[in-house]
Amino acid sequence: MSRRPIAVFDSGLGGLTVVKALQKNLSNESIIYFGDTARVPYGNKSQALIQEYSEEITEFLIDKQAKMVIVACNTASALALNHLKQRFEIPLIGVIEPGAEAARSVTQSKHIGIIGTLATIRSEAYERALLNLDNTILTTVRACPLFVPLVEEGWLEGEVTIQIAETYLAEMISDNIDTLILGCTHYPLLIPVLEKVVGEKIRIVDSAETTAKYAAKWLQELDLLTKDSSHGSLENYVTDLPVRFRRVARRFLGREIDHVSTVHLS
Ligand code: DGL
Repeated sequence: MSRRPIAVFDSGLGGLTVVKALQKNLSNESIIYFGDTARVPYGNKSQALIQEYSEEITEFLIDKQAKMVIVACNTASALALNHLKQRFEIPLIGVIEPGAEAARSVTQSKHIGIIGTLATIRSEAYERALLNLDNTILTTVRACPLFVPLVEEGWLEGEVTIQIAETYLAEMISDNIDTLILGCTHYPLLIPVLEKVVGEKIRIVDSAETTAKYAAKWLQELDLLTKDSSHGSLENYVTDLPVRFRRVARRFLGREIDHVSTVHLS
């Protein structure tokens, strides 16, 4: 490979929102995306298993000469990032701190809602990250386990999806949050429904854009940004057959993707 890529991994497809933001902010960089499509979802698995999967993927990405690994999966960021940092020397970025930072920068009332998978919500990683930034911030949290299968099935709108979102979000709306963190890679696809449900007064933030900016800043500090001025490439690896990945990736990135390979990790 002519230049070392930035690697991004997720339990499935959702991390492509981070790829999209990286391509916008760092168009000369080459990117490797890894979606663990055979083992998704991570959100209802144990910490030990999530750490084991994340370690295997990071090893694979380091073998591919990655210069930085972005853990785009919120669940893996919440439950495995520290574990990975202890095991590997490569620069590693998760999505929790950038997401918390994005929310802190838009909240006025300092009352922030957080939604995510069961594992992410149970870990309390977002609360800790927010309190580290400002210990007067209040949070209301809710696990939304039905959102991932809805997105995987392509139910991005319609009565059923709206009713489920209303049920999940009712408490935080009546609690008067002014900002909602989408603490799961899949949720940005539900933004049209979520906006309808929470109304105009609540700002929705996802961490993709802030994470890409963190990566850019850190790569610059480490003098690891590519000097090559041509457009970077995108290589994709998945652990199941790539047919579904290609279809959904088209929807995430708004264009066709070329290079997708299936790999078996263990
Ligand atoms: N990628 C996961 C996350 O961001 C959502 C899907 C899953 O449960 O694996 O939390």
